[in-house]
Amino acid sequence: MRRKFVAGNWKMNGSLAANAALLSQIQSAIQLPMQSKTPAVSVQADCDIAVCVPAPYLAQCQALLAGGPIALGGQDVSAQTAGAFTGDTAASMLHELGCAYVIVGHSERRAGYAETNAQVAQKALQALAAGLTPIICVGETLAQREAGQTNAIVGTQLAALLDVLPADQVGKLVVAYEPVWAIGTGKTATPEMAQEVHAMLRAMLVARHAQQGMTVRILYGGSMKPENAAELMAMADIDGGLIGGAALKAADFLAIIAAASAVTK
Ligand code: PGA
Repeated sequence: MRRKFVAGNWKMNGSLAANAALLSQIQSAIQLPMQSKTPAVSVQADCDIAVCVPAPYLAQCQALLAGGPIALGGQDVSAQTAGAFTGDTAASMLHELGCAYVIVGHSERRAGYAETNAQVAQKALQALAAGLTPIICVGETLAQREAGQTNAIVGTQLAALLDVLPADQVGKLVVAYEPVWAIGTGKTATPEMAQEVHAMLRAMLVARHAQQGMTVRILYGGSMKPENAAELMAMADIDGGLIGGAALKAADFLAIIAAASAVTK
């Protein structure tokens, strides 16, 4: 059984004051199984949780999250190890600042910065080499979906990484299926539409790596919110969510954590 995983993607949002307020509201409400003290607002958390924050706030968030149940993640990482790459962040730097995760290949980076499948794969390898778990994002545009290319596009995006990934690293991946047309638009894939793609990704992973492929968590992302989280995560191959807008509102993020914790398959 794969443990559910709820990861917030703050994107380019936040400030020192806003981050502190948001994390304090979330952390004070989270109650772990076996914990006796019940906070005023409480959410039973029985899933893995992370927040992926803008690079300048990593140190602040590392300090705020220390010792708590929420892991830290970055939103992007360099495909290079170190050197003359102005503006880039090395995987070792993310690791040093307490990150356990990093998002790679988010559609906003693929579209806005022309990141290729090969570059995304290199980023994931850098992350793994530094001891981070890459959350590799895949997803089709509306035009690609309407042209019947969803499986081909998403499959090619994942294959570019699987082609270069050493077999013993496969179990360390997290995959996020994020249909581009659902990101930040309020349009969500129906649970059935999402599950169809998740099942295809699972089949691909298992075809190449029978055992580890079953353990890889495949998150759904794209306007996941309290109203749809439970039904999405009830699907057989949807193992959690990569949450954008709703991760910036404590009540919404907590409700999604509660939904993930309540799902039994
Ligand atoms: P959204 O973003 O939840 O705001 O749609 C998800 C993402 O881009 O990771």
